[in-house]
Amino acid sequence: MNTEKIENAAGFLKARYANTPKIGLILGSGLGVLADEIENPVKIPYNEIPDFPISTVEGHAGQLVFGVLNGVEVVAMQGRFHFYEGYSMDKVTFPVRVMKELGVGMLIVTNAAGGVNESFEPGDLMLITDHINNMGTNPLIGPNDSRYGVRFPDMSEAYTKDLRIAAREIAARLNINVKEGVYFGNPGPVYETPAEIRMIRGMGGDAVGMSTVPEVIVARHSGMKVLGISCISNMAAGILDQPLTHDEVIETTEKVKADFLSYVKEIVKDIAK
Ligand code: HPA
Repeated sequence: MNTEKIENAAGFLKARYANTPKIGLILGSGLGVLADEIENPVKIPYNEIPDFPISTVEGHAGQLVFGVLNGVEVVAMQGRFHFYEGYSMDKVTFPVRVMKELGVGMLIVTNAAGGVNESFEPGDLMLITDHINNMGTNPLIGPNDSRYGVRFPDMSEAYTKDLRIAAREIAARLNINVKEGVYFGNPGPVYETPAEIRMIRGMGGDAVGMSTVPEVIVARHSGMKVLGISCISNMAAGILDQPLTHDEVIETTEKVKADFLSYVKEIVKDIAK
């Protein structure tokens, strides 16, 4: 962790946008459109921000968007950094550190994920209740800076219960069907084998993906509240008799976009109170 770089990037951003965002949003594959709903947006491409990595995967735009979403000051990452792109865990989680430095207290993390739980269907939204870190590493490995958090962070409530309860109630009010479950984080970039999916199910995973876990660990380390939402973009390998493709992932997120947008906008308004 490089405190100077974090402060430097945050200082640069504060000079470009004076208001303090209350909520940070990390927008996953195909879900970046949410940032287009932000009013009076100030868009800052990642390559302009000192020490920010640059996103490479298709379907990710690569900019921070500051502004007002449904009456609430937010900052959104339109495109995130993945471990499989070759970034160190430090780089993957750098934006979360910067958000914290900017004064963000709550993080909404979204992703596209494969459905492991056979009662799920492509297009379902899943509130993340917990995760399993199978990435083979941890973003907090290395010296601990106690100004951010403790050496051995508690993870018994990685995903803030109050936020999940609020999100559950909002779903009922908007008549949006949401599932709940455990997110299993793999390093990628391969999709899993059917045998791996059977293992993941046996271990308690409901959805599987290649992101989110590092950002959530770092957010929790520094005491941010976290809400996680997966868009089940496909059934995981071996469940259906068909291969998995990134095109399917994007197609499904495209279909649920409208629901997803109205849902997250309502959540933002509600939890900011
Ligand atoms: N596996 C891993 N990551 C994913 C998947 C999947 O099936 N779908 C979207 N991201």
